[in-house]
Amino acid sequence: MTRRATITGWGKCVPPVSLSNADLERLMDTSDEWIVERTGIRNRQLTHVETTDMAELAARRALACAGLEATDLDLVVIATCTPELLCPSVAAMVQDRIGATNAAAFDLNAACSGFVYGTSVVAGMVESGFAERVLLVGAEKLHYAMDYRDRGTAILFGDGAGAAVFEPSTDGDGVLAVDLGADGGKGGTMLIRSMGSQGEPSPANDPEAFRLHFEGQAVFKIAVQGISASAARVLERAGLTADDVDLVVPHQANARIIDSATRRLGIEGERVFVNIDGLGNTAAASIPMAISDALDAGRISTGDTVVLTAFGGGVTWGSIALQWGARTEPVGVHDGELPPTDMDCFDLLQDNLDFYAGLHADEPPVA
Ligand code: UT7
Repeated sequence: MTRRATITGWGKCVPPVSLSNADLERLMDTSDEWIVERTGIRNRQLTHVETTDMAELAARRALACAGLEATDLDLVVIATCTPELLCPSVAAMVQDRIGATNAAAFDLNAACSGFVYGTSVVAGMVESGFAERVLLVGAEKLHYAMDYRDRGTAILFGDGAGAAVFEPSTDGDGVLAVDLGADGGKGGTMLIRSMGSQGEPSPANDPEAFRLHFEGQAVFKIAVQGISASAARVLERAGLTADDVDLVVPHQANARIIDSATRRLGIEGERVFVNIDGLGNTAAASIPMAISDALDAGRISTGDTVVLTAFGGGVTWGSIALQWGARTEPVGVHDGELPPTDMDCFDLLQDNLDFYAGLHADEPPVA
């Protein structure tokens, strides 16, 4: 039987500081009603620590879930567009912290498509026999790049991390097919010029150059088209049809994008997993966090056909068709937590608000 890469462990890190729509109403001219209707988002969770800290915790949880030691790993890949530093990579720092002394390590940036791109890379490594046990993490600290008076961007994004362990299987389960694509010509629709989340916002930087630049409507259209076409291609490559799919786990960008894209595919309702209401858009972290939540909710069973599909900055897109393997319950649990904080979202965002204040000097104060 063909050797495939199957997911044997999963875990997530949801950071502790909540940012609700009611909180956003205090920061910008928006409303809970508008945000829920246009995006499906009610809340986001923000981090008081770095991308690496969230990635490390999600990694430890995924390893415990798989019943593996860090020394069993031969590769650590972190998908992120918000690394704490450019060099060393987040992956190298996580490799050191968890003690994965036998593993290679690198970061991969395909923005919101990062976990799907990462899955294709690690699946190829495992299938070919170049790697046996691989840890893939999607981790993002997006809030650092947000201007919390820009209502077209800051309402969408949250922080977090999700991880998966991949191992070989010859039982028919694992990654069945991959579809990846990019259109760099449209890269200007989503831009982060910053060079690493640890240092910003900092008084030395120009706020206009550093905040996320985002063309929401253009992205919306490309996303619906891109996701549905890519998912259709991956199904064709796997020799499957929409009727064969048990669950789609899409990148959680906007509930309306997910609805439109999956309706085009002919897959709706209970066969689509959505958790955007509590977490917002967490870029590369959204799919692995959603996989964890779907398993916790009993929405994935052994033998299920699962499709992962994403769209993001670059622009990039991609889909994975996989058959879920034997494990649907964790082997073990890692009970570590992030360090506690008593900060609320307003404390946490004060640096952002100060940094971008100059861009809004001529605007009326928020009621
Ligand atoms: O993960 C990677 C990709 N990210 C995405 O895929 C996100 C893609 N884009 C989107 O999700 C949506 O385009 C947004 C949520 C960003 C915007 O929703 P929209 O339905 O495209 O709104 P719009 O930009 O067409 O704006 C409609 C109206 C405008 O007012 P006028 O000009 O009609 O008077 C906006 O100024 O809504 C206004 N508006 C808001 N009102 C209240 C825009 N943002 C807000 C807001 N609160 N936060």
